Amino acid sequence: MSFLWHAYPSARAAGEACAEHVAGLLHRAVLERDWATLAVSGGATARLLFEPLARVALPWPRLHLFWVDERAVPPSDPQSNSLLAEETLVAPARIPRGNVHRIHGELAPEAAAQRYEEDIRNFFGLTSGELPRFDVIHCGLGADGHIASLFPGSPLLADRTGIVGVACAARLGQKRVTLLPAVLRNAAHVIFLVTGPDKAEAVRAAIEEAENPDRYPAHLLRGRQVRWFLDEAAARLLRAP
Ligand code: 6PG
Repeated sequence: MSFLWHAYPSARAAGEACAEHVAGLLHRAVLERDWATLAVSGGATARLLFEPLARVALPWPRLHLFWVDERAVPPSDPQSNSLLAEETLVAPARIPRGNVHRIHGELAPEAAAQRYEEDIRNFFGLTSGELPRFDVIHCGLGADGHIASLFPGSPLLADRTGIVGVACAARLGQKRVTLLPAVLRNAAHVIFLVTGPDKAEAVRAAIEEAENPDRYPAHLLRGRQVRWFLDEAAARLLRAP
């Protein structure tokens, strides 16, 4: 089933349930092939996943951590998605350095995108035209409906072959490096963690509006293995499942 969602009493409870679910998916992937991949998003909500996930006894030496997107800032910048994950997941879980595939936000965006794509191609051993298949991709949702750094109306939303691209968060005038739609759509599992009343309308549109990925980028994942972990505030406008 593609869209499954559950609303939890609090943002913290949603994050903990999300972490438990992600851990179960990763455990199963490691049992099948001895290693697994997780790509994470950034933003304020991500911490609610990272902190409980870091407490799970996962076989981190067999898990490789990638990013869904990164701001064009150095890893020391408070806006860095790498910094957030380093502090709340990588360090506490003691993920081996060689398993951490960050996006080098300190480089020029095009160079960072090229370097990240090369890392992904090398890790997955991709041939030309082949796409990586992440075991789990974690996404948040912007109040404007963006996922990753794929913003409503972006020409990147129509890309069905690329792996990594450069986006612009127009509202912030900020360049981003982001996984492209085909990679999100090729994931074994996509997990959304979305909390807070300011996201209720974006969540309603993502889950209940007629398919229109150019306006609602989450619709790119219609028909895929997707599960939404919400708090009651973010789920407020949804019809009962
Ligand atoms: C980013 C994220 C982005 C995020 C949403 C939600 O770099 O900002 O990857 O896609 O998940 O914007 O962000 P909040 O959790 O801060 O609302």
